[in-house]
Amino acid sequence: MNAISMNMVTLFYLVASVCFIQALKGLSSPSTARVGNVFGMSGMAIAVVTTIALMLKLREQLSSGGMGFGLVLLGVVVGGAIGAVAARRVEMTKMPELVAAMHSLIGLAAVCIAIAAVSEPWAFNIAARGAALPFGNRLELFIGTFVGAVTFSGSVIAFGKLAGKYKFRLFQGAPVRYPGQHIINLLVAIAIVALGLMFCFSSGATPAWTPFIVMAALAFVLGVLIIIPIGGADMPVVVSMLNSYSGWAAAGIGFSLNNSMLIIAGSLVGSSGAILSYIMCKAMNRSFFNVILGGFGGEAASTGGGGAQEQRPVKSGSAEDAAFILQNAESVIIVPGYGLAVARAQHTVKELVDKLTEHGVTVRYAIHPVAGRMPGHMNVLLAEAEVPYDQVAEMEDINGEFGQTDVVLVLGANDVVNPAAKDPTSPIAGMPILEAYKARSIIVNKRSMASGYAGLDNDLFYQPNTMMVFGDAKKVIESMVKAVE
Ligand code: TAP
Repeated sequence: MNAISMNMVTLFYLVASVCFIQALKGLSSPSTARVGNVFGMSGMAIAVVTTIALMLKLREQLSSGGMGFGLVLLGVVVGGAIGAVAARRVEMTKMPELVAAMHSLIGLAAVCIAIAAVSEPWAFNIAARGAALPFGNRLELFIGTFVGAVTFSGSVIAFGKLAGKYKFRLFQGAPVRYPGQHIINLLVAIAIVALGLMFCFSSGATPAWTPFIVMAALAFVLGVLIIIPIGGADMPVVVSMLNSYSGWAAAGIGFSLNNSMLIIAGSLVGSSGAILSYIMCKAMNRSFFNVILGGFGGEAASTGGGGAQEQRPVKSGSAEDAAFILQNAESVIIVPGYGLAVARAQHTVKELVDKLTEHGVTVRYAIHPVAGRMPGHMNVLLAEAEVPYDQVAEMEDINGEFGQTDVVLVLGANDVVNPAAKDPTSPIAGMPILEAYKARSIIVNKRSMASGYAGLDNDLFYQPNTMMVFGDAKKVIESMVKAVE
């Protein structure tokens, strides 16, 4: 390959990398998220086209003449089509499952590339035909395979737990626990490292396949073992953590293939996934290291899935009663939650807020970082309804205002406003919450007294200044809009 074309490849990869960084920057705020997405798509298009051009060059160089280029194009077309259809069809509330499924494929791709590179290193420009793989490349391929295999099987389990519709025991939301679990995980991890080192230190042109394949198989098993003890309620953090793993797997393979694009994109995914996991852990008051070690979340999740409901009396009212109270308030804070997304009531809420604003009521939305089922879920939902960004406040900015607010309207939210988090004996102890319980009046809309994702009863619903309005969020809010009119 001549120097000029290599320089061009480097230049285009650099442009793609800058696009990816701009994409991350854009996605950090709802107002710039669309531009961020455009940067991301452009960066990926540049990276894919450049890589195909690079492959064509390499094919010319290879005396064997065949790199299965037709197969690669077929993969791009079929994979791209499946991805496009899946992304178009997926409901917003099912997005974490889709993300988990995609991560699993990145992990599997890393393992497949590593096996191909160990088998025919000359086809990847790593070593001359018949020559031994250098130690550094063996190490990179070992790490890439290990992380990729853990990412694949771990993501498959996370997908099953998030979907919650498969009968298979390992796909159930409840954690799977057994005696000596951590010791077994540790022993498997030690065996993987030992086999990986055997592979790295083996000499000769023929790779040490046995330790490599056994190591890969054990890594697939470890991925399952570290995710099964984690409850369904903690899966978002796990998905974000696996996202990070998939990035590091790609970066590891990038080093082996000497592909700067894979190294940069993989590192960006790896580090942003790790930062997101950290932010989510903080929002749920969990330890990041417990998540990484796979022993996380059992306590909260073990109570999950609809714990026993208390039979205390609650005050309930109609949508019209609620509309009357809202209309006569000076300040209102709306707390959206998972139920609002399920009911697809975001446009109706916007209509209600517009009407209340016309009546001189000051309305703001309070967003909890883990409200809904994925990071930023509520921001995306409100952005879809074109809610002005200045009406939307993050938890830390608005929590101090609940005490001076006339009415808090909780729409399909539960755990994120549960005062049980203040009780040190509660499974969600220490989780920061939106302090809706401090408001002068609270109106809660949900369909029943059923618990939220953490499976806990919520004292907020029984407060003397709380009025429950039972029913599907969309129907209830539509009635409120009519009543305000
Ligand atoms: P939840 O605690 O899950 O509560 C949602 C409530 O919405 C439920 O109690 C449900 O009660 C109600 N609901 C469901 N469908 C409804 C409908 N059509 N109309 C009206 N209400 C409806 O939600 P949250 O407060 O948003 O908290 C999120 C929880 O999910 C947290 O525990 C969080 O840790 C966890 N989690 C978060 C994420 C991320 S990253 N955001 C991902 C996974 C899990 P009814 O059945 O009585 O209607």
